[in-house]
Amino acid sequence: MITGKTNVFGIIGDPVEHSLSPGMHNAAFKELGMDNIYVPFQVKAEHLEDAILGAQSLGVKGFNVTIPHKTEVINYLDYLDIAAGLIGAVNTIEFGKNGAVGHNTDGIGAVMAIEEVTPVKNKKVVILGAGGASRAIAFQLLLSGVDNLVIANRTVEKAGELKTDLVEKLDHEVRVSGLDENLTQELSDTAILINTTPVGMYPNVDEKPVVTAEMMHPDMVVNDIVYNPLKTGLLNEADKAGAKSISGIKMLMYQGVEAFKIWTGIEPPVEIFQRALMNELD
Ligand code: ATR
Repeated sequence: MITGKTNVFGIIGDPVEHSLSPGMHNAAFKELGMDNIYVPFQVKAEHLEDAILGAQSLGVKGFNVTIPHKTEVINYLDYLDIAAGLIGAVNTIEFGKNGAVGHNTDGIGAVMAIEEVTPVKNKKVVILGAGGASRAIAFQLLLSGVDNLVIANRTVEKAGELKTDLVEKLDHEVRVSGLDENLTQELSDTAILINTTPVGMYPNVDEKPVVTAEMMHPDMVVNDIVYNPLKTGLLNEADKAGAKSISGIKMLMYQGVEAFKIWTGIEPPVEIFQRALMNELD
């Protein structure tokens, strides 16, 4: 029951009606007996500042932030954590006595998903794509001790821009590649492959994956951050190659788990989040 004591959380974005986050967080609040509620709020770009100020006036405790506000929202926050500052994007806001604090749990969500299967420290990783998701994951991988990082992108210049920023901010070597023979070469000794491009995402499920089975090997771990479908064309290729595959649903789950920890200080059982996501995708 909602009372005067209920804590309000939410997600702001445009659109938000298909977000799976309300289901995850509300399931966790319910199962853990917490007097909290999580609501989706559609916020137009021109109303973003009002939304942040208004949330603080109303005593909202936390927000997730999704497309198209992840970068712009920084202008209206008081502090950023290390990852959010480096990435230059926020997906979680904590409202408290110290003002509005921005966090980014997207990168750590991907790393936790991979670390269910294998540690990332000292590994060679290839990331496909150089957009916002790639950026969050690339920074977090280097923060988590990845030794050898390659950003492979259709537009090599865009990968180069991300590389420059990574090298400047973290002083760690990064290489770039096109989606060509050079990528095939790089993949031959790669431990972890992460796809951040939308290739294979519903409704384009039959689109040819950027990397196919012949370019993989059985010791490789392949993570597609696309979660619809759960088994993408890329992950089917991983199966063919005898590689381990990780669905994008795990990154979605762990970014939510990390946001929940920031807001409540409680480590929630991940099974609650997983079950809620599976129910929603049914
Ligand atoms: P997000 O912010 O969600 O990560 P984005 O910024 O739109 O998404 O980035 C999408 C990435 O997927 C880009 O790196 C894009 O490559 P380009 O920089 O060359 O545009 C990549 N991408 C999108 N469609 C692709 C396709 N059909 N084949 C290969 N790469 C693709």
